[in-house]
Amino acid sequence: MYDKLWLRYAGGCIEKNMRRVVLSCGKRTNVLNAAIAELKAVFPANAIIIETAERENAPEGQGFSIRNRDGVFTISSQTGAGVLYGVFAFLRLLHIGKIDENFVEFADSPKILWRILNHWDNLDGSIERGYAGKSLWKWDELPKIDQRYLDYARLAASVGVNGSVLNNVNANSVFLTREYLEKAAALANVFRDYNIQVFLSANFAAPINLGGLSTADPLDDAVRSWWREKAAEIYALIPDFGGFVVKADSEGQPGPYVYGRTHADGANVLADALSPYGGIVVWRAFVYGHGETDRAKKAYVDFKSLDRGFRDNAVVQVKNGPIDFQPREPVHPLFGVMEATSLFMEFQIAQEYLGQGNHIVFLAPMWKEIFQFGIRLPKEEISTKQSLDSVGKVLEGKKLSGIAGVSNTGDNEDWCGSLFHSANLFAFGRLSWDWTLDSTDIAKEWAVLTWGKDPIVIDAVVKILTHSWTACVDYMTPLGLNHIMRYEHHYGPDPGCDHGQRADWKPPYYHRADADGLGFDRTRKGSDAVDQYASPLAELFNNIETCPEKYLLWFHHVPWDHVLGSGRTLKDELVFRYRRGVEEAEQLRTWWKQVEGRVPPDRYQAVLDKFDIQVADAREWETVCVAYFMSFTK
Ligand code: GCU
Repeated sequence: MYDKLWLRYAGGCIEKNMRRVVLSCGKRTNVLNAAIAELKAVFPANAIIIETAERENAPEGQGFSIRNRDGVFTISSQTGAGVLYGVFAFLRLLHIGKIDENFVEFADSPKILWRILNHWDNLDGSIERGYAGKSLWKWDELPKIDQRYLDYARLAASVGVNGSVLNNVNANSVFLTREYLEKAAALANVFRDYNIQVFLSANFAAPINLGGLSTADPLDDAVRSWWREKAAEIYALIPDFGGFVVKADSEGQPGPYVYGRTHADGANVLADALSPYGGIVVWRAFVYGHGETDRAKKAYVDFKSLDRGFRDNAVVQVKNGPIDFQPREPVHPLFGVMEATSLFMEFQIAQEYLGQGNHIVFLAPMWKEIFQFGIRLPKEEISTKQSLDSVGKVLEGKKLSGIAGVSNTGDNEDWCGSLFHSANLFAFGRLSWDWTLDSTDIAKEWAVLTWGKDPIVIDAVVKILTHSWTACVDYMTPLGLNHIMRYEHHYGPDPGCDHGQRADWKPPYYHRADADGLGFDRTRKGSDAVDQYASPLAELFNNIETCPEKYLLWFHHVPWDHVLGSGRTLKDELVFRYRRGVEEAEQLRTWWKQVEGRVPPDRYQAVLDKFDIQVADAREWETVCVAYFMSFTK
C-alpha cells in the first residue's frame, strides 16, 4: 500500500476544546463535499455543521477564513474551492499545533492564480526524468478509475495545486485522439471535485500527425480550423479543460520556425482555439540549439521581441534559470523584461540534476532565492535608486499568474522517490500558493505532518531539510558551475565528458576550463549575457569584484589565482568547497542517525540507505571534479 505522505497527519492531536466545525459556503457543490469528506476522516460526523447560506464578508474566489468563537470553528468562503483549501489549512494548523483554544482567526488566499503540476509522463507509462517508478496514470486501464487518482488529487489540493498537465512536454500526438481524451476526461472527473483542472501537452504537429494535413503552419486556415475543432471536441468531454502546454522548436519538437513563423504566431493559433471556452495556452520558452553561441541568452533573444504579440489567454512558461534546472542558477532574465506577456515560472520538483531519487535535497530555499531575486526596475520609480522588484512580485502582477512544477511523482509506494522527496512536492504547493512563506516554516510543517511531534525527530528533519540544498551546491556545482553532470542521464560528475558523445552541449561547453582559468565569460567582453539583466544588475554581474560568488563562474572566466572573498585563490576555493560539500552531506546523515529508534525502523532504514548513497556520491563528485579541474592548473 502506498504512503499517505503529509496526509498521515503524524502530528496527531485533536484540540479538546473544539466543539464544532462549521463549514460555510454559498452553495453545496462537489468540491464542498470533498472538503466535508476530509473533515469527516478526522472528526465525528456530529461535530460538523454545513451552512450553505451566503455569509457576509465570506472570502471570495479561492480564499477562505477560519474563525474560532468559543470552540466553534467556522471555515468560510463563497466557493467550494475556498472551503476545501480552508479545510486543508485547518487540518494542517491543527495537527502542527497552531490551532489551540487561543486561536482567533486566520484568513488566506493564493497570491498566484495557477499552481500546476507538470507530469512528464509518456504513453507507455514511463516518466521522462522520473525517479519514483512508473506513471500514476494507467493509460491501458483508463477510463477505469483507480483509487490512487483520488489520493493524488487530495495530496495536490491539500497544498493548493489547481492544475495538472497529464503528459510529457515532449508530447505524443496520440494524447489528442478521441480515445485518449476520454481517458483524460475520466481523470478530470476525479480531479474536478478537488478543484484541479486538467491540461494536456500538445504536439504542435498534431494537425499533420492526426489530422492528415500537409502543414502545421499556424497561419494556415485549415490548421486553424483543425485546432478549433479539436478544442470543441475536448470541451465537449472536459468542460473545465485548462488548456494546452506546448514545447515548440526545442530539442527536436516541432514548432512554428519551420514555416517562418514566430512563437507568438504558434501560441496564438492555439489560444484562439481555446479562448471561447476560457482555456489558456502555456507556451514554453525553453529554447536553444538554433546556432547561438551562448545557450543562456537564447530564450531572451527569441522571446523579448514578441512581448505584446501574445493573446491574452496565452502565457509564456519560463524555467527558473537560463540553462536548465541546475543546482543553482541566476534567475532567467526574461522575468525582467516581458512587460505585457503573462509569465509562468517553471520549477522542476523532480531532481533531474540534483541527485534524482537518491539525494535528499530540499528545494524550498532554492525556490525562495528565485522568488526573492530582484529582477525588474519598479515601473513607478524608474529614476530612483530603489531596489528592484522581486520575481515573486513580477509573477503576482501578471494578468494570468502561474507557477508550474515538473512533478516528482510516480507509482512507488513513497510517491516521490524517497520518504524525504515528498517534502519538495509539499513545498512546491505551499510556495506556489504563497511565495512569501518561509522555507524553514514549510520544512517544519512537513516534518510534523510526516514524522510526528517528537522534538528530536523534528529538529533533525528540519536541520536536514534546511541544510541540504547548500550541501548539494557545494559538492556538485560550487561558485556558479553548472551542467557538469554525466551527459545523457545527468546523474554523477563528468566535467571532462570524454566519452565520445556528441560534441555540442558537453560539460566543457559550460565550464570552459583551460590553463588560464575557469568559467563562462558572459561579461561585456564575452557573450554579454549580463546585459540581458536590468541595470544595476548588469553592472554588478559584469564586474568580477562585485559579481556574487555564487554566480562567479556563471558570468566570468576567472583566473586560477584570482583571490576570492575568503582570501583563497579560485583554485584553493574550489578544493575547499568540494570538501565542505562532502562534510555537509556527512552531516546530513549524522543528523538522521539521531532519530534511530524514534521513527519506525523500516522508515529509518529507507532514509539511511539514501544518505549512504548521497555521501558516497558527494565523495565521488569531490574526487572527480577536483582531479579534473586541478589538472588545468599545473
Ligand atoms: C531538460 C530535460 C529533458 C526535457 C527538457 C525540457 O533538458 O533533460 O528531458 O525534455 O529539459 O524541459 O523540455
